[in-house]
Amino acid sequence: MKNFSRLCCALLCAASVLSACAGQSNPFDNQEEVRLPIMGWSSWNTFLCDISEDLICGQADAMVETGLKDAGYSYINIDDGYTDGRGEDGFIRIDTTKFPNGMKVVADYIHSKGLKAGIYADGGNNNCGTRDVRPYGLEVGLWRYEEQDTKMYFDDWNYDFIKIDFCGGLWRKLDVQEQYTKIADAIHKCDKQDIRFNVCRWAFPGVWVREVADSWRTTNDIELDWASIKRITLENVYLSAYVGGGHYNDLDMLEIGRELPEDEERTHMAVWCIMSSPIIIGCDFRTIPERSIELLKNQDLLAMDQDRLGISGAPVAFADSVLVLAKDMETFHGPKRAVVVTNLSGEEASIDVPLADLGFRGKVAVYDCFQHADRQDICLSDHITVKVAAHGSEAFYLTGKRIDKTSYQAEEAFLNAYSELEEHADRTPHVYFSTSADLGMYACGLGGREDNWMEWQKVESSKGGRYVVTVRYACADESGMKMSVNGAEAASFDNLNTGAELEWAETSAVVELNAGYNTIRLENADAAMPAIDRITVKEYR
Ligand code: GLA
Repeated sequence: MKNFSRLCCALLCAASVLSACAGQSNPFDNQEEVRLPIMGWSSWNTFLCDISEDLICGQADAMVETGLKDAGYSYINIDDGYTDGRGEDGFIRIDTTKFPNGMKVVADYIHSKGLKAGIYADGGNNNCGTRDVRPYGLEVGLWRYEEQDTKMYFDDWNYDFIKIDFCGGLWRKLDVQEQYTKIADAIHKCDKQDIRFNVCRWAFPGVWVREVADSWRTTNDIELDWASIKRITLENVYLSAYVGGGHYNDLDMLEIGRELPEDEERTHMAVWCIMSSPIIIGCDFRTIPERSIELLKNQDLLAMDQDRLGISGAPVAFADSVLVLAKDMETFHGPKRAVVVTNLSGEEASIDVPLADLGFRGKVAVYDCFQHADRQDICLSDHITVKVAAHGSEAFYLTGKRIDKTSYQAEEAFLNAYSELEEHADRTPHVYFSTSADLGMYACGLGGREDNWMEWQKVESSKGGRYVVTVRYACADESGMKMSVNGAEAASFDNLNTGAELEWAETSAVVELNAGYNTIRLENADAAMPAIDRITVKEYR
C-alpha cells in the first residue's frame, strides 16, 4: 500500500511537471471548443414584411446555387412578416396568403437543402413591424406564451434559430433581463437541441445577456448607407470585452450586395469579421452583384469571423479617423494575429502602426486578405505602414514572434455594470470619445456600487513576476479606487483629484503577475471612481 501511494505520488508529480512544461510552452492557451457566430441570410433588410414561402424557398435555393452554402453560410432566417395575429385558440395565426402551407413546410424545405432555418418573434406582445402594417403582428409575441410558442417554433416546426425583438416588450414596459431570461428558460425546455438565440434589443443590454443568448444586437437597425456602417463600427469598438465563450455582439444584418460602393462593402465585411459578428446576408440573391458574392465568400476574412477562439478584435490604434483592430487567431498569444485597418474618413489616409503595439517583435510575415497574397512591402523595420482608401479597409494576417501587450485601454475593459439601456441609468459606466484620451476613448461613471467595476481579463505575462501597473486617470474630486490582481487586493489609491474632469494624471503600483493571463480590476464600492483612460503593465526592473 505504501509503495502504491509512493508510485501514485511519483506519477502525479511527473504529470504536474509535464503539465507545467506544457504550460511553459504557452501559458496562455487553455481554449475549449466554443460555438462560432452563425453565418446565413435574413429576409428583413431587402424585403421587410413583404415575404412569402416562394421567396424564402427561392433564396434558400440561391444560397446553394451561388456557392455561398459551400463558402460556409447555412442559416435562412425568416424575419418579421409571416404572422396574422393570434387566434382564439391561443396560437399564432400564419398569414396564409404569404405562407399557404404554414411555417413547418418552409423549415422542412430549407433543411432539405442542407441548410438551417431561422424564425423571428418579439419578447413582448406585438412584433416591431406592426408599426408599419396592422394587425398581422399584434399579440403574436412571446409574452405570456413563452413555453407554448417556443415549443411550437422548435419542437413542432423544427426551426434552428430565433431572433427575438423587443418592440412589444417596450410597449408592455417589460423588464428586459427578466423577459429574455424567461424566454431562454423556455427554449432550454424544448426537446430540440442546438438552438441559437439572438436578443434584439438594439443596444448592449448588460453583461447578463452573455448567460442568456448566443448573440445580441448592439445597435439600432442598419440602413443602406455609409453612415450606418460607420456608426455601428464606432459603437462596437468598445464592446470587444463582452465577446467570448461562444457569445457574440451582433452588428446587424449585412447591406452587402445592395449597391454600396466597393470600398464601403469591404469595410462592412472586414469589420464584421474581425469583430466576430454573426454574418447574416441581407440582400436579394437574385440581383446580387458578382463582386459582392466574391466578397462574401472571402475565406480569409471569414476565417477571422469563424476563428476557433471566438473573440472580437480590439482597438490597437485610432488616429485621424483610421481605426486599427487586432485579435489573436487560432491560439491565444500564438504566432498569428488578424489586423483590420479601417478608414472612417472621406479622404484616402495612411497609418504607421508599430509592430510592438500589434504584439510582435522582430521579423513579421504579412498576408493580405483582399489580395490573397504576401505583402512584405508594407512591413518596414519595426512597423507596418498601410494606405487605406476613403471609407475603405485593409485586412491582414501577421505572423511572428509575440511579445506581451503592455497597454490596456478602457475601451477594451470589461465594465461589469455596463448597459446601454435607459432603465439602468443610475450611475451606469460609459465609454466616451475624447481627443484627450489615448486612442480617443475613456471610461467613466464607474464605482459607487459593489458591482460597478472595470476589469482587464487578459493581462499578459509570459514569465510571471513583478510588474509596474500604471493607471491613467482623471478626476475633479477626491475619489479613490482599489486595484486587485487575480482576485486579491494589490493596491489602494486615495485622493486622486487631478483638478478637472479631463485633466489626466498617472499613478502606479508594483504587483505580482502569474505566467499566462491575469485579471486586473479597478473598483470602489463606496464612492465614485475617477475616469480611466488605460493601464500600462511593464516588467519591474
Ligand atoms: C426591428 C429589428 C429589425 C427587424 C424589424 C422587424 O426593427 O431591429 O432587425 O427585425 O424589427 O420588424
